[in-house]
Amino acid sequence: MSKLAINGGTPVIKPGMIKSWPPISDKDRKMVMASLESEYHSHGPNCTAFATEFAEWNGNKFAINANSGTAALHMGIVGCGLGTGDHVLVPAYSWSSTATCVLHHNCIPVFVDIDFKTMNMDVKKIEAAITPKTKAIVAAHMHGLAMDMGAVMRIAKKHKLRVIEDACQAHGAMYKGQKVGTFGDCAAFSFNQNKCLCSGEGGMFVTNNEEVWNKAKQLWSFGETRTPEESRDYHAYALGWMYRGNDMSAAFGRAQLTKLDGYLKTQHEHASLLIDLLKGTPALILPNEPKGYTHNWYNFTSRIDMKAAGWTGNPAVFRNAVMKALQAEGAQVGVWQNFILPAMTVFQAQNAYGYGCPWGCPHTEPVKYDPEAFPGAQKHTDTHFGMTYPIRQPNTKAVVRATAKAFKKVFENLDQLDVEAITAPKK
Ligand SMILES: Cc1ncc(COP(=O)(O)O)c(C=O)c1O
Repeated sequence: MSKLAINGGTPVIKPGMIKSWPPISDKDRKMVMASLESEYHSHGPNCTAFATEFAEWNGNKFAINANSGTAALHMGIVGCGLGTGDHVLVPAYSWSSTATCVLHHNCIPVFVDIDFKTMNMDVKKIEAAITPKTKAIVAAHMHGLAMDMGAVMRIAKKHKLRVIEDACQAHGAMYKGQKVGTFGDCAAFSFNQNKCLCSGEGGMFVTNNEEVWNKAKQLWSFGETRTPEESRDYHAYALGWMYRGNDMSAAFGRAQLTKLDGYLKTQHEHASLLIDLLKGTPALILPNEPKGYTHNWYNFTSRIDMKAAGWTGNPAVFRNAVMKALQAEGAQVGVWQNFILPAMTVFQAQNAYGYGCPWGCPHTEPVKYDPEAFPGAQKHTDTHFGMTYPIRQPNTKAVVRATAKAFKKVFENLDQLDVEAITAPKK
């Protein structure tokens, strides 16, 4: 049993045991088919209803159904009135569009390192990153754990900064009992394949501020001021994109929204069970839910303690070997990010709108990105591996137990790993 599957042993998890996401019921089929057979296939009544129902579920006054979380983030930048040359603080570890949404409107991202423990932007490092040009913070709730929104809002108030919450991964996550997306000026949610609320692709922009909502709406639909439900004058009053969702996707999203609370309850139970089963596993750093926070367990992200593992070489190489060994056991794990954001070429080469813009525009102050300045993000990126579906419905506690067994088998037998052979490029 203890011979690792990567070395020819028997895998712990049988193929087909882990079910895929999201669970589809008659409700999804009925709602999507009704949309398909209706006369609306682009923006339609399901989009408007989805926005109303999501706003109600999350506790926001206003919502706009967008075609991605990235679109909703860009709407946040514009909704907050930011413009060319404004500096916007973003975490050094996240999805690329947490930072590139800032570039979309000619603003300049300024990175802040993360706190290794929470994986979120380190609130103790925010003030040191503020410049005279800083106008906003993108507060990303990574992997479903809310940022310390008490600290974020205190700093924002002190320095007169706007706050755009990147809640793309954090549906239902809470800070002190309050849902994310209700703290800042506005927030963005994503509904892509892996998200806790999946509508195929899609996003939602939410806010409690009517002025922010109106500005975001204009960007969302060609710079127009009238929504598709109103009598449009087809006049671009400002620069706009086409960020509208479509009716079928929204119908799917509405059906999934009715099940979201049940999904989140299961994820919470499964993550707690997994943590209980894995506590004390050598060299495994488990994710945690600090007191006062409610995790949504979008991604069960673990790290490897290299010192405890006895590895002194490149941490990412060892992590890749461990991950391959886990995958050979049938565990559904993967690396979420191979690069910290400031190391990505778009920032290193300052390669956005051409001619060095927006960094080189006359309204901007030059900003350089030194990847070495973000040790927390780098350590996390090199040592993490994540997992989504196994702790979600329709998977049961049996899958959680089998996953724990696979983790334990690998971590208790790290000495069996031939790291060089496992990670050597295939010929
Ligand atoms: C933290 C974060 N921000 C933004 C996004 C962008 O969302 P979307 O893929 O819907 O554009 C994602 C999802 O991929 C994400 O995980």
